[in-house]
Amino acid sequence: MIDLRSDTVTQPTPAMRRAMAEAPVGDDVYGEDPTVNRLEALAAERLGKEAALFVPSGTMGNLISLLVVCGRGDEYIVGDNQHTYIYEAGGASAVGSIHPRVVPNLPDGTMALQAIEAAIRPDNVHFPRTRLIALENTHNRMGGRILPPEYVAQVRALADRHGLWLHGDGARLWNAAVALGASPAELAAPFDSLSVCLSKGLAAPVGSLVVGSRDFIAEARRARKVLGGGMRQAGILAAAGIVALTEMIPRLAEDHANAQRLADGLEALGYRVHRPVETNIVVFELPEPRPEDRMMSAWREQGLLVSSFGGGRFRAVTHNGIEPSHVEQALRVLATTL
Ligand SMILES: Cc1ncc(COP(=O)(O)O)c(C=O)c1O
Repeated sequence: MIDLRSDTVTQPTPAMRRAMAEAPVGDDVYGEDPTVNRLEALAAERLGKEAALFVPSGTMGNLISLLVVCGRGDEYIVGDNQHTYIYEAGGASAVGSIHPRVVPNLPDGTMALQAIEAAIRPDNVHFPRTRLIALENTHNRMGGRILPPEYVAQVRALADRHGLWLHGDGARLWNAAVALGASPAELAAPFDSLSVCLSKGLAAPVGSLVVGSRDFIAEARRARKVLGGGMRQAGILAAAGIVALTEMIPRLAEDHANAQRLADGLEALGYRVHRPVETNIVVFELPEPRPEDRMMSAWREQGLLVSSFGGGRFRAVTHNGIEPSHVEQALRVLATTL
């Protein structure tokens, strides 16, 4: 099978498995796991923040950030195509009684600045209180688009003008950094809090980190406990995360090159591609709409897996384990159904 459904299907590398087997561990809820402590220090340093917290998933990282900043009935501004709004089971409202204020995402993954500003509530007893703006970089549903750094700086300025918190869902911030030739810390700088994933293109089996100020992370640690995310000898997992951060980031460039190859090939076949393809995600459509499940099972029968975004759109994600020859084979399969 050529599995392009997601970069979450990556397998831990041999170096990760060795590091996991050999990791010194302790009880992390007591703060005594040396490998978790090392990973958190490394992540804070790489992202230029005071502190970091190891969490089981990106979903939990985003939810923790919202829970720390927003109280019951408060509101956060989020794009209508962002992961936190669509794919995190409504956690903000289900768990935190936090109300989402939804603003359209534009095709480049941004939300119009005027639309964000218009969504901020005036101080009035009728309204929820706006507390936080959430961005996503890279933007999954918009085809792995990178938020322009100057745009993020403008949202930061807007948040400052209104006294709001800026949270980043940086599940694939590493991809943005590699594609821009920027440091992860530069891209993280405008955010008060940021969650980043180890378990996507970086191929660790489990884990994300939330980064921010020391005070924020102290509160985040409490919120993680509330959610049942306090783990004990979690160094076994963190060890793979250290390998992810120290060895796996530069190779994301290969995923980006493979995504370009795939996008070019799809267009040559007559598919429509959400352009530009800037990182490792290719969103594409058939020239004429056809039932998605029929297409996906035809491809599956020939050994190719992609995911569906609904509305006739499909997503293919390149990752560790996908080679140029797999892209060629995927295109041969995709050619058979046109
Ligand atoms: C943009 C984005 N944010 C957050 C997440 C959540 O990560 P997790 O699956 O670890 O909860 C994902 C997962 O694919 C994602 O694509």
